[in-house]
Amino acid sequence: MKEFSFPKSEIRILLLENIHPVALEMLKDEGFNVEAVKSALTEAELLVRAKDVHILGIRSKTKLTRKYFESARKLLSVGAFCIGTNQIELEPARSHGVPVFNAPFSNTRSVAELVLAEIVILSRQVGDRSQQLHKGKWDKSAVGCFEVRGKTLGIIGYGHIGSQLSVLAESFGMKVVYYDIVTKMPIGNSRQIQKMDDLLAQSDFVTLHVPETPQTKNMIGAKQLAQMKKGSYLINASRGTVIEIPALSESLKAKHLSGCAIDVFPEEPESNDQVFKSEIQNLPNVILTPHIGGSTEEAQQNIGIEVATSISKFINNGSTTGSVNFPVVDLPIQNQGSSHRILNIHKNVPGVLKNINSIISDVGANISGQYLATDPEIGYLIVDLDKQLSEKVREQVAALSTSIRTRILY
Ligand code: NAI
Repeated sequence: MKEFSFPKSEIRILLLENIHPVALEMLKDEGFNVEAVKSALTEAELLVRAKDVHILGIRSKTKLTRKYFESARKLLSVGAFCIGTNQIELEPARSHGVPVFNAPFSNTRSVAELVLAEIVILSRQVGDRSQQLHKGKWDKSAVGCFEVRGKTLGIIGYGHIGSQLSVLAESFGMKVVYYDIVTKMPIGNSRQIQKMDDLLAQSDFVTLHVPETPQTKNMIGAKQLAQMKKGSYLINASRGTVIEIPALSESLKAKHLSGCAIDVFPEEPESNDQVFKSEIQNLPNVILTPHIGGSTEEAQQNIGIEVATSISKFINNGSTTGSVNFPVVDLPIQNQGSSHRILNIHKNVPGVLKNINSIISDVGANISGQYLATDPEIGYLIVDLDKQLSEKVREQVAALSTSIRTRILY
């Protein structure tokens, strides 16, 4: 087994909130000391139970605050086994030298599949027929129900989800047009449209796949809804702030839109115990789902694999690829035969590199590789150098007042 300055079995990993078992297995296979807990921890509990861990894995319920990062002196990294990272105070994590990894695109396919299903469900009024039948009402009719073959799907935001959906919809026989602020290569026979207004005017179904930004806030309001074709449908499984719900409610009541499927809302309950209220409840052909677009077993497994891989790469070779709060370095595998790797996270102030390089040259060490990435606040420097002199260099570099964290890898 590869020898480490710090034996792998002494790297303590604590996984909270029922993270998918695949992550536990992968990290155990790597030789780390892993403990898994089903529940989330409060700040007070974290300060006791997660104070001395090297890696902490959480999902969305555990809040990681400045106070935690100040007390967790041994913490090397946080794995957020989810999409969002709002539950983590990323700035203090960064200033304490702790990269946070998440898995933003692991559930892409799950969202695309749900939206594809919703296109058919809306077009056939399946939601309403099902609700009626549960109440005993048999309402067999073809009025206002259509095939989706040959209809136009307008995708707003042609990123990971939008582009996958485009492929699925075309294989279903739909025509696909898309609008994006960035020029994107069309996949299959889809076509980029330069103005959102034009997309709205020609689509039978409009689906939103944009991020939450100041530009996308309320991007679909009364004006845009009026631009949509009469009898068309709207789908939103992106972010709740993108649609003005009161305007959508008006458009549905006026029967301008024939229906919508909404998975995300401007205000969402924080737990399953809270009651949900919205102006579009109890309207015809309105499919409401509780932010489950990406909630599948497969997505959870993909998240487990993606975050466990990022953590292992960071511990084993120093790479920070996929980190949300840290300068990103994708490092080559080090030449273990002749060199050791020093990883130094430092305050990004003038003179740091000069000081570190003086230490290296003063001890007479030979550098075989050097990598640096910075952001305005911190720098991440990686140096591969002679085995014999590495420990001496590490000690002196770690002692610099600008150093936040310094590790060595054999
Ligand atoms: P992505 O980052 O891959 O794609 C977003 C696309 O939107 C990019 O091509 C970008 O250029 C484009 N865009 C940005 N601003 C725009 C604007 N003002 N107008 C038009 N296009 C714009 O993101 P991805 O993975 O496809 O996710 C899309 C959305 O879906 C995100 O908001 C994400 O939070 C949400 N999501 C929702 C889930 C759910 O459970 N309902 C699960 C996963 C993601």
